[in-house]
Amino acid sequence: MADITLTIDGEPVAVPTGTTILKAAAQLGRSVPTICYHDHCTANGLCRICVVEVDGIKPLVPACLTPVHEGMKVTTASARAVRSRRTILEMLASAVDLSQAPEIQKLIGDYRADRARFPDAERREQPILDDNPMYHRDYSKCILCWRCVQVCADDAQFTYAINFTGRGFETGIGTFFDKPMPETTCVFCGQCVGVCPTGALKSKRESLLEQGLNPDEITLVIEGGKKSRGKPR
Ligand code: SF4
Ligand code: FES
Repeated sequence: MADITLTIDGEPVAVPTGTTILKAAAQLGRSVPTICYHDHCTANGLCRICVVEVDGIKPLVPACLTPVHEGMKVTTASARAVRSRRTILEMLASAVDLSQAPEIQKLIGDYRADRARFPDAERREQPILDDNPMYHRDYSKCILCWRCVQVCADDAQFTYAINFTGRGFETGIGTFFDKPMPETTCVFCGQCVGVCPTGALKSKRESLLEQGLNPDEITLVIEGGKKSRGKPR
């Protein structure tokens, strides 16, 4: 494929047609922050943390899914992009439990985001769903990045056990008709757990190990369904 030449933060770079701004920036060693993006998932531009400034385009553009074009001039960390990223992080912190999302916690520090900027924000609190022996779902920690839905669908497993549910603030991830996981098409491959960036989906074994149980105790809890010491967290 023909190369396209553009400049990123004033530095020229040539990349093949179809390359995204994110990948072109990486070629120059510049890192643009990402949250919803995953190298092995289709990019959908949902979180907007990767926004950058492009000369001649008024809105900030998501670097993870915007392809480069000839002569493009990109600024990866303009004041406007940084302020936008900071606000996104502040909004996430105001509504979602990010306690098990180390990469987002690091971004909050890097961007000096104020976790208390929106003190009256409604938090997305939901009961933990513990309906199968393999993993639990704690959607209070879900940032709706959609990675789990994509790997369950066309990006990997072609199983389609989960999808978006609800609208607006009530948007969430769920099963058809809210069925418990064992009653869906889920094959418990674990790919959704593997791509979840926030601990919203967590293997039961990992959770029980963190609680100090040894492997024999974990087997007893999982196989015997004894949840008295094995509460998800
Ligand atoms: S459960 Fe995890 S992977 Fe799925 S949308 Fe929520 S944060 Fe993303
Ligand atoms: S990482 Fe690009 S929109 Fe989320």
